[in-house]
Amino acid sequence: MKIEGRTFVVSGGASGLGLATIHNIISAGAYISILDISTSAGHSLVASLPPNRSIFFQVDVSDTDSIAQAVKGTLSWVKETGKEMGGVIAAAGVSTPAKIVDRHGDMFDLKGFDFVMGTNVRGSIDLVRQFLPHMVKVEPVGEDGERGVIVLVSSSAAFDGQPGQVSYAASKGAIASLTLPLTRDLARYGIRVITIAPSLFDSGMTALMSDKVRASLTRVMEFPLRPGKPEEFARVVREGVENSMLNGTVIRLDGGMRMPSKM
Ligand SMILES: NC(=O)c1ccc[n+]([C@@H]2O[C@H](COP(=O)([O-])OP(=O)(O)OC[C@H]3O[C@@H](n4cnc5c(N)ncnc54)[C@H](O)[C@@H]3O)[C@@H](O)[C@H]2O)c1
Repeated sequence: MKIEGRTFVVSGGASGLGLATIHNIISAGAYISILDISTSAGHSLVASLPPNRSIFFQVDVSDTDSIAQAVKGTLSWVKETGKEMGGVIAAAGVSTPAKIVDRHGDMFDLKGFDFVMGTNVRGSIDLVRQFLPHMVKVEPVGEDGERGVIVLVSSSAAFDGQPGQVSYAASKGAIASLTLPLTRDLARYGIRVITIAPSLFDSGMTALMSDKVRASLTRVMEFPLRPGKPEEFARVVREGVENSMLNGTVIRLDGGMRMPSKM
């Protein structure tokens, strides 16, 4: 799908991988509806982007009503600009590590599990779900009659989750697993789905990592021997949007690294 002149929704757009994606696709002519829980970062981002090319909605993706407000606002902005929806990029996500039993033998709290699943799985699906009634009706374009693209974000943790990642790995495994059925549901509408599963990438999330965890990951890198750059993630999103043969797949973006058990 051609990016120029289409509107893309990016959740988690105020930081890290979502932010880099916005910079990349806006340079290709996209219009962006930025959804993020962080109001200050969202507003200053819009102020830094080319005028009238982006709009910000404060959204907590685990809250259906707040998504509904952003859908309403985005679709009326689309009407104003005349730049039809091209896709949804669900990059909002959280990671709160906790071992299922701690060193005192106490079990983890399900509140933490629900928070991670609610944001990463329910939040991604609810966001996509609420934009689809509009997306399935947009005018199909190109030789294939394409209507749009959904980009989801999984993680290396979906395949080789580390100690303390039961909740996070469950959420990212769910995103990887639902990619194919979502693709199959949407194929008849000319809407594609791709999921990207990054390893360690520099971002707001990984800046909070302890030195011990970072060192354990650096030790097992294959090539290159460094964390991924957000721009490298963004380039894969762009290819995913532009290349119509990318569909129903989970792309590992990890420099060949497999995450270790021991820190
Ligand atoms: N950085 C990595 O190494 C890495 C690796 C694998 C997967 N991921 C995934 O990539 C995605 C982006 O993460 P990142 O690394 O850029 O982190 P980040 O913390 O830099 O960015 C995440 C953004 O999501 C927003 N957000 C968090 N909860 C939200 C909510 N409930 N509603 C709306 N917005 C919310 C945050 O405010 C932030 O702007 C996440 O799904 C993460 O799990 C990251």
